Formats: sequence, structure tokens, C-alpha cells
Amino acid sequence: MASVTFECVTKRFDDFVAVNNLNIEIEDQEFLVFVGPSGCGKTTSLRMLAGLEDVTEGNIYIGERRVNDMSPKDRDIAMVFQSYALYPHMSVYENMAFSLQLQGKSKREIQARVERAAHQMGIEQLLQRKPRELSGGQRQRVAVCRTIVRDPAVFLMDEPLSNLDAKLRVQARTEISKLHRELGATFIYVTHDQVEAMTMGTRIAILNQGVLQQVDTPQNLYNHPQNVFVAGFIGSPAMNFFEGALTGARENLSITTDAFQLKLPLERTVAYLPYRNQPVIFGIRPEDIHDPNYVPPGIKAAHVKAEVCMTEMMGNEVIGYLTTPSHNQFVARVDRRSEMKVGDSVNMIFDMDAFHVFEKQTEQLIT
Ligand SMILES: Nc1ncnc2c1ncn2[C@@H]1O[C@H](COP(=O)(O)OP(=O)(O)O)[C@@H](O)[C@H]1O
Ligand SMILES: [Mg+2]
Repeated sequence: MASVTFECVTKRFDDFVAVNNLNIEIEDQEFLVFVGPSGCGKTTSLRMLAGLEDVTEGNIYIGERRVNDMSPKDRDIAMVFQSYALYPHMSVYENMAFSLQLQGKSKREIQARVERAAHQMGIEQLLQRKPRELSGGQRQRVAVCRTIVRDPAVFLMDEPLSNLDAKLRVQARTEISKLHRELGATFIYVTHDQVEAMTMGTRIAILNQGVLQQVDTPQNLYNHPQNVFVAGFIGSPAMNFFEGALTGARENLSITTDAFQLKLPLERTVAYLPYRNQPVIFGIRPEDIHDPNYVPPGIKAAHVKAEVCMTEMMGNEVIGYLTTPSHNQFVARVDRRSEMKVGDSVNMIFDMDAFHVFEKQTEQLIT
């Protein structure tokens, strides 16, 4: 049982700042996911927590204990590496037993723990095999089992599913979530895949270039992204952005871009008034733009004229790629019955309850 706290943690490699003033409190038994593009500092953050990398500045706590100077083996943490790092010359059993032997556990206890973990992940029949005799999915399970046997307070997982094919990945995702519920330990999970992050995390921490952008539940990240980076990172296809300005008086405050001028709903204008005539970024998700022939009932519809450049029939939906007469491109995710065709001129429907406005200069959400 342990919470984890990063307090003003910075990591520099020479002059390069890999993690920049990270502050985050992870609750006991939480499933927290670090997500962000490659190179944003995810692995470095985990390695500092595990004690595999020094902290340049700041403090890391596990529970109440400051662990900056504590050796990795005393931290009550186990980590699954992206590469799995199984010992090739040892059997699965030996791989799992190894850390327990180092701790001086009895043969009997080791056997009991290995068998219990193997049962938990369904690999009992693989215990005598060598890693090279395993499929990718089986190796991944062994790597997870190797952490379970240690019964740590905190599990760290660094992109443990990235070597699996799409179908196995979905299955392993559910397995790890289930394991988290069964073990009641704190899980800190790293991925660059936003779908993994959204489906597994109770909270998600989004990093970019070493800087924490937002920590929140999946719902809040999707519905209330605090800046342009988060808005563009979560959701696929990504949110559409249009640069423009807020114009007009209170009663008819509008967003004006090269592509359109849309009147904003009156109840939302108060927040925006201080930003009148200043440059802003207007964001709207593809799923909030509709084919005019298939508009969901009850939405605040606004028309935007565009030409269809391409469509992708996905079965359950159609993805439309559109261009406005001003050459702004955007993506719409429309009803599967849509008959939009390349070259059609369409008055697309923007849902005016579902947009976001960001300050251009800071890229922060205006609320
Ligand atoms: N040992 C190191 N020496 C120098 N630079 C490093 C070292 N480890 C990581 N970096 C750099 O720090 C940044 C963050 O790396 P990392 O934490 O591995 O990113 P992520 O796991 O998010 O892809 C990258 O730009 C990487 O090149
Ligand atoms: Mg990494």
C-alpha cells in the first residue's frame, strides 16, 4: 500500500531537461497512466521513481518516505520494462523466482508465490520453458508475473504492450486492468498510446517535452482539455483547430476565422468578453461536426460551407475530410448513412455546444 509523490522533480542530462519541475500526487491503489509523445520524459520519470536514475532536483516520496537516496531494492517497487528484460538462459520459473531468491525467501515460499502468480496470469504450463520458446504475448505475461511474485506496493509498467499485435494488445489491456483490481496495489503505467491511456487509467497525466500538461480523469481530459496540446493529443481523429478572433458585442459575440463567422451561444459569452478582438484558437472535435442530412436532434447548429476532399467509410461511421473556400482543412466524423462524396459542396453542421476556445499566445483554454 503506497501513495507516490513527485515534488518539483527535474531531471537534466547535461544541459538537456528531460523532466521539468514535475509535480504529481498519485494515490494509494490508483491506476495512473503517463502518456505523451516519444521523448517526452515518461521512462525517465519512472526510472527516477524506481531508483534507476538520479533526481537532479526535487523530491520523490513513496508513502511518507523520501526515496531520493534509497536504493532501488528498498523501495518496494517492481517494474515491467518495455523490452521485458527476461534472462534468456533461465526458465520462466527461474526468471520469476530470481528476485525472491535474492531476498533470501525459502524454497517453499518461492514455489508458492511463483505458482500463484503463474495461475493468476494463466501461464502455469509455461514454467519450464525458456524465454525464446515463448510468443510475444507469453513473454509479456511472464514479465508481469515476475513483478507480481514480489508483491510490491507499487507496480511500474513501461509500455508493456507495445510489442504485441493489435488484438493481443486489447486482451492484455483488460488483463492488466483486472490484475490491478485484484491486487489492490498502486499502478503507474507508461504508454504513448492514447487509447491505452483512456481505457486503463483512473487518471491520466499528459506530458509534453518534459512538462506536465494536465492530470485528470479520462472524461475530463476529453471534455475539458486545458490547453491546445491536450486537446489535440486526446481523441482520434484529432480535434480541429481554427485560428481567429472573438468579435462583436456581447449579444452577438462571434468567432471569426478565415473559414467562418459563427455566433456563440449567449450563455458562454461572459468568459470570452475579456478576450474580444484578441487572437484565439477555436477547437471542435470531428464527432461534433455533422452531415446536414443527419443532424442529431436538439443541438445548436451552425453552418460552415466546405467541399468534400475525401471520405472513409468505417462501417459504423464515415470520416470526411473537408476544405473551406478559404483553404482551411478539417475532419468530420459523421453518420454512417452519410452520402457525402468527393467534390460535393456541403453546409456542414457545427455543434455550438461542443467547441473550445484557447488563447492564441498561451494556448490555454479560456474558461
Ligand atoms: N541517459 C540519457 N542521456 C541523455 N539523454 C537521455 C537519457 N535518457 C533519456 N534521455 C533523453 O531524455 C528525453 C526523455 O526520454 P524518455 O524519458 O526515455 O522519453 P519517453 O519514455 O517519454 O519516450 C529524450 O529526449 C531522451 O533522448
Ligand atoms: Mg520510454
